[in-house]
Amino acid sequence: MKAAEITALKGRRKIVVLTAYDYQMARILEEAQVDIILVGDSSGTVVQGYPNTKSVTLEDMLFHTRAVARGARKTLVVADMPIHTYDTAPQGLASAKSFLDAGANAVKIEGNRPEVISALLKNNIPVMGHLGLLPQTAEKTEVQGKTPEQADRLWRDALEMDKLGVFSLVLECIPEWLARKISGDTKSPTIGIGAGKFCDGQVLVINDLLGLTDGPTPKFVKTYANLHGTILEAVQRFAEEVKSGTFPDKAHTYH
Ligand code: KIV
Repeated sequence: MKAAEITALKGRRKIVVLTAYDYQMARILEEAQVDIILVGDSSGTVVQGYPNTKSVTLEDMLFHTRAVARGARKTLVVADMPIHTYDTAPQGLASAKSFLDAGANAVKIEGNRPEVISALLKNNIPVMGHLGLLPQTAEKTEVQGKTPEQADRLWRDALEMDKLGVFSLVLECIPEWLARKISGDTKSPTIGIGAGKFCDGQVLVINDLLGLTDGPTPKFVKTYANLHGTILEAVQRFAEEVKSGTFPDKAHTYH
């Protein structure tokens, strides 16, 4: 699907978005027919083990984008532009072009950055916006838009980005009533993460959904599998069989 077709889904059906960082996961998400694969800079935490996304580089994200694009042959691939790759409009344009060269179909940026968004759109690069909790700059992981002033600011930013022409807009960690209002007032579909059920679509980090992430996860995360447990058990069984000499057996040996 193209970015414009995603926009056209608003009001017709909910949009399904998941993150992926490698080829094999991209293949699975495509088989499951998700609408958008987001190569999130959450790779910084779930793949690289950093405490947040602030250390993720352009090269890191290009690596993940190339791998995902090899696996996602039909699905829209959105590359998350990491921190300090769009500090100015010209820098943002150069970074976005490198993501398109790596196989992405669109890019995501955090915050209301009209000059960057306009430069990308002028060059026919579809942009996914991202408002609310912005992990690249946030000091703490907390719900945004709780005061009337913050909520008004978020609503105004959303309307401005919508008018500029973002093809979709991620809303992260904001109260449900505010996400509902923004979703009602924008033409671009809203993609919620911790923003309640009235958004036009939902996104989760794939490692969270699969129960791979160890330690506590935010309230909005629902785990649909326990891959941590499954992998742990498989590895423990392998270790036992190696130690006891039962692996490899005849069936797994060349004669
Ligand atoms: O980096 C990421 O994975 C994201 C989504 C969770 C929205 O920005």
